[in-house]
Amino acid sequence: MIVVGSGGKHLEEELRKLGGSLIEVEIKKFPDGEKYVRVSGSFREVTVVQSTFVPQDEHIIELLLIADALRENGAEKLKAIVPYFAYSRQDRVTKEGEPVSVRAVMRALGIYYDELYIFDLHNPETLRFFPGKAVNLSPARAIADYFEENLGEGIVLAPDRGALMRAKAVAERLGVEYSHFEKKRISPTEVQMKPVDVDVKGKNVLIVDDIISTGGTMIKAANLLRTMGAGKVFVAATHGVFAEGAIERVSKAVDELAVTNTIPTPASRISIAPEIVRL
Ligand code: R5P
Repeated sequence: MIVVGSGGKHLEEELRKLGGSLIEVEIKKFPDGEKYVRVSGSFREVTVVQSTFVPQDEHIIELLLIADALRENGAEKLKAIVPYFAYSRQDRVTKEGEPVSVRAVMRALGIYYDELYIFDLHNPETLRFFPGKAVNLSPARAIADYFEENLGEGIVLAPDRGALMRAKAVAERLGVEYSHFEKKRISPTEVQMKPVDVDVKGKNVLIVDDIISTGGTMIKAANLLRTMGAGKVFVAATHGVFAEGAIERVSKAVDELAVTNTIPTPASRISIAPEIVRL
């Protein structure tokens, strides 16, 4: 049984088509801005699907209210599937007095939920803050399937060494080469970025990252690939946290931009709903 919060509405129809049994939930706002939630029926085991994109805090509160209602109605086991986990980038204290925000949110969810599933968490080590079972899901299969035909015998690249595992996972599904960009300081004022140990000349390239925000990282990488004589340049990411104008800027710089629908955006053409149903 699945309950979909307002941060999962964009997945609801597909989840139903894929055979998910959805429980009805009423979600509205009181005139003062507080949330009201009412879940229909009583179920022993329930999965709540709720992505926590903008408005992040409201989506997090809904996760808590829905879980409280489900427990009140006798639920014994609750799973949260949070495709995009807000606050995941604040995973350490950089200035005295700051919180580890991702820990605060995970602990709060841990009061109600037994299991937590997240897609491509910014820092998977932070899963340890959740007191129950916590799993980081990979969208590699969905991304690989989407680009398989257009990429052909191309190359998958990560924009930096830290993202290499992501490029590897996609490339291995496609049976193609993979590598990452590396930054090389060539003078005190100039940093050069280039792909390591691969020749991109004449080859199609797919760049894979976890997040696209301003699009700056992807645009820089795509422009470099052009100067190196690459064929078509495709760009994919799990979470399209697009800043104002970023979709247009990235789309102009590449042959195709596609992100998954952990966050609903006009570029969210790769669905993670089948992965959710498989859980
Ligand atoms: C950084 O840690 C992330 O993996 C992304 O590379 C970053 O968020 C991309 O940001 P932007 O699109 O603003 O370059």
